[in-house]
Amino acid sequence: MASVTLEHVKKVYDKNVVAVHDFNLQIKDKEFVVFVGPSGCGKSTTLRMVAGLEDISDGILKIGDRVVNDVEPKDRDIAMVFQNYALYPHISVYENMAFSLRLRKMDKEEIHRRVCQAAEILGITEYLGRKPKALSGGQRQRVAIGRAIVRDPAVFLMDEPLSNLDAKLRNQMRAEIILLRKRVDTTFIYVTHDQTEAMTLGDRIVVMKDGYIQQVGTPQEVFDTPVNLFVAGFIGSPQMNFLKAKLIQSGNGYSVELLGTTIPLNPDQNQALAAKGVKTQEIILGVRPEHTTVLFDNKENAIECTINVNEMMGSELHLHLSSQNKDKIIVRLPTVDLSKEQRAQLSYGNKMYITFPAKVMHLFDPTSEKNLIYG
Ligand SMILES: Nc1ncnc2c1ncn2[C@@H]1O[C@H](COP(=O)(O)OP(=O)(O)O)[C@@H](O)[C@H]1O
Ligand SMILES: [Mg+2]
Repeated sequence: MASVTLEHVKKVYDKNVVAVHDFNLQIKDKEFVVFVGPSGCGKSTTLRMVAGLEDISDGILKIGDRVVNDVEPKDRDIAMVFQNYALYPHISVYENMAFSLRLRKMDKEEIHRRVCQAAEILGITEYLGRKPKALSGGQRQRVAIGRAIVRDPAVFLMDEPLSNLDAKLRNQMRAEIILLRKRVDTTFIYVTHDQTEAMTLGDRIVVMKDGYIQQVGTPQEVFDTPVNLFVAGFIGSPQMNFLKAKLIQSGNGYSVELLGTTIPLNPDQNQALAAKGVKTQEIILGVRPEHTTVLFDNKENAIECTINVNEMMGSELHLHLSSQNKDKIIVRLPTVDLSKEQRAQLSYGNKMYITFPAKVMHLFDPTSEKNLIYG
């Protein structure tokens, strides 16, 4: 058990490649924090600095109250699970799990107790005598996790542990990691490029891009109030729609004009924009596909679109639309409440009408790309 603190942490490779800039984060004891972002944004580098596998170019790293910048990995009380499992092929699952404990000269009975307990937690007891090559990908990943659990580390580090598994197994292992976390009550730092994994696993998620933290928050906070266009587009699937629009200030209220319609903002939005001194300006309007309202009857003040693609997903329909301005808009619609007639209206090539309630609209400045309210 331990907190992890990064203060102004920086990583420069080969004297000029800055992989991580001024990284500041306090991870609480027993917290599950996920670093998420596209490939190359510095997630692994940051994790490897915590593990002690990379030197820290600048800044301070603490585990608990201890500054560990110059502490050897083996003395940091951490355990790391890698994407490629990194098991020893020539020894059994049992010996793979016992390996680090034997190096520590731990008592044989204690090693046995820990290996059996970890195997039990992970459901791999029956494979303890096998060699890794006689296991499936999912089983190997469990052994890799087991090898970390037996060490009973203060901090658990995982770098894309599920990336090598197929989609079904990945979903299953994701659920198992949630259960594991309940049984192994310690601090976790988990790296992934997959926003779904980040959203489902993290107490807090750290969204990264180009070596910079973009936003830190609970999954709900990051989803509801993305601070900039990047976070808004990265979190959520299908991706948030972005439309050119105009924010109009009149009196003490604001409204959004787009595609021939005017949508007044709500009192909270008005107050927040006024407090920031925002004036009439061009904006990028963000609306999530699931927050779009399809109008079948009253088509006043609605946005007219043409249906380009109609993807039937069973419980929901994904409609790819283009507006009269050729803006692309994706709409996600539950099918359960649709009548036969309504479904027929939503066919390829037809015209349809949509709108957005003010509360689901995200307003971004086109130049700074910041959220005008939360950025
Ligand atoms: N050993 C290294 N030497 C030089 N550059 C590196 C090294 N490892 C990573 N990088 C660079 O640092 C950046 C961040 O990489 P990494 O932390 O692996 O990203 P991520 O894990 O988010 O995909 C990338 O631009 C990558 O090319
Ligand atoms: Mg990586």
